Amino acid sequence: MPLVTTTEMFKKAYDGGYAIGAFNVNNMEIVQGITEAAKDLNAPLILQVSKGARNYANHTYLMKLVEAAIEETGLPIALHLDHGDTFELCKSCIDGGFTSVMIDASSKSFEDNIALTRQVVEYAHDHGVVVEAELGTLAGVEDEVNVSAEDSSYTRPEDVQEFVERTGCDSLAIAIGTSHGAYKFKPGTKPQLRFDILEDVSKRLPGFPIVLHGSSSVPQEFVEKINKFGGNMPGAIGVPEDQLRQAAQMAVCKINIDSDLRLAMTATVREFFYEHPDKFDPREYLKPARAAIKAMVAHKIVDVLGCDGKA
Ligand code: G3H
Ligand code: 13P
Ligand code: ZN
Repeated sequence: MPLVTTTEMFKKAYDGGYAIGAFNVNNMEIVQGITEAAKDLNAPLILQVSKGARNYANHTYLMKLVEAAIEETGLPIALHLDHGDTFELCKSCIDGGFTSVMIDASSKSFEDNIALTRQVVEYAHDHGVVVEAELGTLAGVEDEVNVSAEDSSYTRPEDVQEFVERTGCDSLAIAIGTSHGAYKFKPGTKPQLRFDILEDVSKRLPGFPIVLHGSSSVPQEFVEKINKFGGNMPGAIGVPEDQLRQAAQMAVCKINIDSDLRLAMTATVREFFYEHPDKFDPREYLKPARAAIKAMVAHKIVDVLGCDGKA
């Protein structure tokens, strides 16, 4: 099966009350861990590549890894550009074989966001590729984007219909309280997503797929392991998984997870070196790291996304 777009996946997910996991990939072990879990559970999958990942691993290497994953699993897999910030970057991924791109112009004015998104949509649709856009800004840190909590803002439901109609985008990322990275909520506060905004948005866009970024739940067992084995991540807090599950049962069809994979991998490698300070063969520490990613993704598919058996 060749790479697919997200069109069919999202339609089934919307109707079925579940979501597809969009997991960030940067190297072979991450691709293998994610796709082995999806294969075991017969789950549809979105593998996403950020600008930073593409710079790190190189477009061709990532394409070949994903092609290998398709051959090994036979699953419907979409290859998506995460947080594309320019027309040129989106065009390069479309020309290079991605089946889905995100144009993230959410930090621009409403009109500038519409103009850039529209430009990407026209080129993408001419080439059979789908486009995710974003309205509202998430707080948090990524390689290429750093939005402070003060500069973040919830999506305004009254804007979404006009935005989708004028851009022609295929899915929409909204801001309802999630954020990027491992520090999503202030320690001592109660994490709470704005389901009222999600509800309002979905009433205004019936049947339209909504995307949630910044949806790692930052499992405390991994934070504790990192802290125990020489790391320093006090106060790392994520989105409660029951709230993500609730969102997946509503209009949210794509849930983005990256930080949880980083935590699983890093905690495992830290533990390995603590216990085996004499070892230096990368295969010996990357093997358990890959297994930790597989276990994390399997847990997300079954307990958070609900997309097991849906491929
Ligand atoms: O939301 C962004 C992803 O976590 C990717 O992060 O830009 O550091 O690769 P990155
Ligand atoms: P997390 O940092 O919560 O994993 O979010 C990842 C993301 O939104 C990628 O686009
Ligand atoms: Zn994101």
